[in-house]
Amino acid sequence: MDNVPLEGKRIADSRVVLNMLMNPEHANALGNVHGGVIMKLVDEAGGLAAMRHSRSPVVTVAIDSMTFEEPIFVGNLVTLTAELTYTGRTSMEVCVRVEAEDPLTGSRVHTNTAHLVYVAIDRQGRPRPVPPLLVETPEERLRFQQAQERQRVRKERHRREQGLSRSGDDLPEEG
Ligand SMILES: CC(C)(COP(=O)(O)OP(=O)(O)OC[C@H]1O[C@@H](n2cnc3c(N)ncnc32)[C@H](O)[C@@H]1OP(=O)(O)O)[C@@H](O)C(=O)NCCC(=O)NCCS
Repeated sequence: MDNVPLEGKRIADSRVVLNMLMNPEHANALGNVHGGVIMKLVDEAGGLAAMRHSRSPVVTVAIDSMTFEEPIFVGNLVTLTAELTYTGRTSMEVCVRVEAEDPLTGSRVHTNTAHLVYVAIDRQGRPRPVPPLLVETPEERLRFQQAQERQRVRKERHRREQGLSRSGDDLPEEG
């Protein structure tokens, strides 16, 4: 089945929009929303978009650094928008944009954007091919190229880290 060429899919075909009200159980000791709560939601939204694109189970293989530019407060409505930016043979990059709205005032802030990579897997947990992403507009093509470059950098970093851990250079010194 994996040898049959897969039909391309558009970004809009797998876009995911998740809305979630931030409640007291999402707060940290300061009373703001815990960064880890948002990270989990980002991964869930990204994973859903990747599943929709591939119609397959997926695993998260890489999460780029996340910078929170604005705090999110209890009572805010958080909206996560996840869109595919790139597909390789078995991998997919998803961009997740997070916004927080104060429902009382209507004020809305962009809190962070994250890029994550997922791999579609078969029943044995091995990578399986995904449909190519159809990029239609100049903006989508540019985002695809930028994602391709990020993926090149990630793979390069992964190779370097593997080399380091094989040589034991990443371990703390004993004593
Ligand atoms: C994801 C996984 C199946 C990949 O297996 P693998 O043997 O490394 O497979 P490959 O080397 O063929 O890589 C598969 C794809 O992942 C990509 N990939 C692998 N490591 C990567 C990394 N560090 N960053 C970005 N992409 C990576 C490869 O480029 C390849 O993409 P392509 O087919 O589009 O070219 C395997 O590493 C795994 O199961 N990881 C654990 C995932 C998981 O449990 N996540 C949740 C963590 S809590």
